[in-house]
Amino acid sequence: MMTAANLPNEPLSAAQRTLSHTVSFWFIAATLGQWAFIAFILLFYGGHSLKGEFTALNNKPHITGYVAGDTLGNTQWLMHVFIAAVVTFAGVLQLLPQIRKHWPELHRWNGRVFMLSAVIATLTGFYLTWIRGSQLNLPSALSTSLNGVLIVLFIILAWRSARQRDFVTHRRHALRAYLLVNGVWFLRIGIVPAGLVLAALGQKMDYNSPAFLIVSYASWMLPITLLQLYFIAQASKRVVVVRSVSALFAFLALFTLGGAIAAAMFMWWPYL
Ligand code: HEM
Repeated sequence: MMTAANLPNEPLSAAQRTLSHTVSFWFIAATLGQWAFIAFILLFYGGHSLKGEFTALNNKPHITGYVAGDTLGNTQWLMHVFIAAVVTFAGVLQLLPQIRKHWPELHRWNGRVFMLSAVIATLTGFYLTWIRGSQLNLPSALSTSLNGVLIVLFIILAWRSARQRDFVTHRRHALRAYLLVNGVWFLRIGIVPAGLVLAALGQKMDYNSPAFLIVSYASWMLPITLLQLYFIAQASKRVVVVRSVSALFAFLALFTLGGAIAAAMFMWWPYL
């Protein structure tokens, strides 16, 4: 029998459904942008490497890039870039609810691929930054390194909670790891809009400027903070909270789509 206590709270359920839709909308926008990044890696780095045209890899600006004779450095660099494509692809696959539901074995195997490739991408990233010396400047090298430390931390926490069959905690840590692994991609989709805003103000985006550093730190801090807001909204019983976070995610979805299109147009397409 329906009593006042167990009456469904229709406005809250509707708000939660809207939240779920806006977050899915954001995920679709992010997936399209991440696939564009993967396509660029495969076409540009894969295309030149397969043809053995390694010096042509420097047609695009890098911090260090290809250095003739530096076999170890070049190998780490190319390994980093190709494994980046693997981890980005595996990250998207891991979040698809259909795969978790219908092919749990694929979810487990893809999870292992994601974890291993994220750790390799991070270790090779550390080699490039701190041993090869590929740094724009110290604060931005520290930003990517902190991002890397957090990637490894949340991968370990996600793996441990899955082993303990604590799937609520596993989901939270895995989502954090997914966002942190995409810090590099967020940096790219943030830098073009930031550059356009600066251009409108008559200034240029300079890698040593405070504007670049803000985008660099925000590229991994902001996504995990916004994820926390999503968790709060999911658990909230207040319609106004759920609706506000939904509106924020609708805006973020449009921003992500715009940033991804801008990155593809200005950062990747000109080199293909
Ligand atoms: C696991 C997530 C990561 C992914 C997906 C990733 C992806 C990439 C990609 C695709 C590039 C080439 C960029 C381009 O051509 O536009 C790159 C460059 C680079 N990455 Fe990462 N990266 C990750 C983590 C890291 C970490 C944690 C560090 C540092 C500790 C790092 C350091 C670097 C450096 C220094 C370069 C530039 C190399 C050069 O231009 O000579 N990466 N990364």
